Amino acid sequence: MSEGLVTASYIGAIILFILTLGGLSHQETARRGNVYGIIGMTLAILATVFGPEVATANSIHIIIITMLVGGSIGIMLARKVAMTQMPELVAILHSLVGLAAVLVGYVNFMGESSLIGVEKTIHEIEIYVGILIGAITFSGSVIAFCKLSGMIGGSPLMLPARHWLNLGLLIAVIYFGYDFVHQGHIDGGNPVLPLIIMTVVALLFGIHMVMAIGGADMPVVVSMLNSYSGWAASATGFMLANDLLIVTGALVGSSGAILSYIMCRAMNRNFIAVIAGGFGTDAAGTGTATGEADQGTVTAIETEEVASLLLDAKEVMIIPGYGMAVAQAQHTVNEITKALRAKKINVRFGIHPVAGRMPGHMNVLLAEAKVPYDIVFEMDEVNDDFPNVDVSIIIGANDIVNPSALDDPNSPIAGMPVLKCWQGATTVVLKRGMATGYAGVQNPLFFKENTRMYFGDAKESLDAVLKAITAG
Ligand code: TAP
Repeated sequence: MSEGLVTASYIGAIILFILTLGGLSHQETARRGNVYGIIGMTLAILATVFGPEVATANSIHIIIITMLVGGSIGIMLARKVAMTQMPELVAILHSLVGLAAVLVGYVNFMGESSLIGVEKTIHEIEIYVGILIGAITFSGSVIAFCKLSGMIGGSPLMLPARHWLNLGLLIAVIYFGYDFVHQGHIDGGNPVLPLIIMTVVALLFGIHMVMAIGGADMPVVVSMLNSYSGWAASATGFMLANDLLIVTGALVGSSGAILSYIMCRAMNRNFIAVIAGGFGTDAAGTGTATGEADQGTVTAIETEEVASLLLDAKEVMIIPGYGMAVAQAQHTVNEITKALRAKKINVRFGIHPVAGRMPGHMNVLLAEAKVPYDIVFEMDEVNDDFPNVDVSIIIGANDIVNPSALDDPNSPIAGMPVLKCWQGATTVVLKRGMATGYAGVQNPLFFKENTRMYFGDAKESLDAVLKAITAG
């Protein structure tokens, strides 16, 4: 494949990736967006594999073998992974992008280079920055994976003087960057030492950064690492002088940064404060009054009562959370929705921006179950309507409907906007027991007078309700 054809294919792939991002921003066009992405990526891979660089290096057989191995692992993972494990999978995939940037950086550093003067300096800076971002992304993503999969607890690690520690690490990185370039330009210089020290510092920084972030702020970390992985890919593109990688990395990096900002705004968090670690935990301390204090008693409810509450209602609001994903209850939710709407009951869905474990988690599940898009609303669109709601059904959600976020300044989730379902006539909460949610805080909603606890696995409970509704 000629150089010109490769460039044309790269431009085509870039346009397709931009269309992908546009498509993915709306549920109706998400499927189309994915198709653009698949075509763009196929084009990019074919142009790279059959391009002049691979042909010159005579390495096509190695590339095809590694692609077959990598592709098979990818297919196996994608088939095996449960929807609830997606965030962990995404985190660990981000770590691979970071690791690739580190490895490409070292290979570039060790390879022969004919560059001199300013060009040499620029190339060295590319290598240094590429390895830096890659190492932070790698170790940060591994820790995020461990936190999301429960291998490490969700509570933030609050080292004393942690901000000073971060500042010290930043100064060290700048100093060793200077030393790396300087050593590369003097006879008998040893640039490898500052490079290795910086890599260790960057790995430690990545670990510290994610360890210091508390459970409820993890959504921001996931999108932030997504952004970092984009910048790491972009840096790799600079090192390899590959325009497509530079632009694609920048697209991922900037869209991840925008998503992180949106997440922070949705959770009423300050972005800098979150990445500096443990926002809200300074004021909150580690415990929470609501977590330990006696909250009173809860009122349980049975299937028949839930069914008749729903059938007597005019306005129903369904609020899904992580538990709906665990129980895979979305299809039954859709069946109940259809049954109620057939009886002229107005059913709407209120979606919190951080419900579940990844951005858009609930929207994906509801779309999969074919719940009509026009009855699925964002939190802000419905949050003032609860006084008119007869029954709110909370399906495996906890933190996102926790009133202590608004009432208790000592709560670790203080300040996070939540769906104010308790303002409706009756709230029915579906969960298996009294366990806390992701943030590890008890929920005063469960003890309110107009709340009914419907205990059990959400899918089994909803199947029973559907039966009762359709029988009645
Ligand atoms: P959570 O607060 O995690 O609550 C989920 C609840 O579902 C649990 O209390 C659990 O109680 C219940 N549950 C689990 N399995 C169930 C099942 N099979 N049937 C019925 N109930 C079940 O979820 P949420 O309200 O969706 O809030 C999301 C939380 O995750 C927030 O703190 C958010 O910051 C964090 N987070 C979000 C993201 C993104 S990007 N969305 C990423 C990382 C972290 P039982 O065990 O008693 O059943």
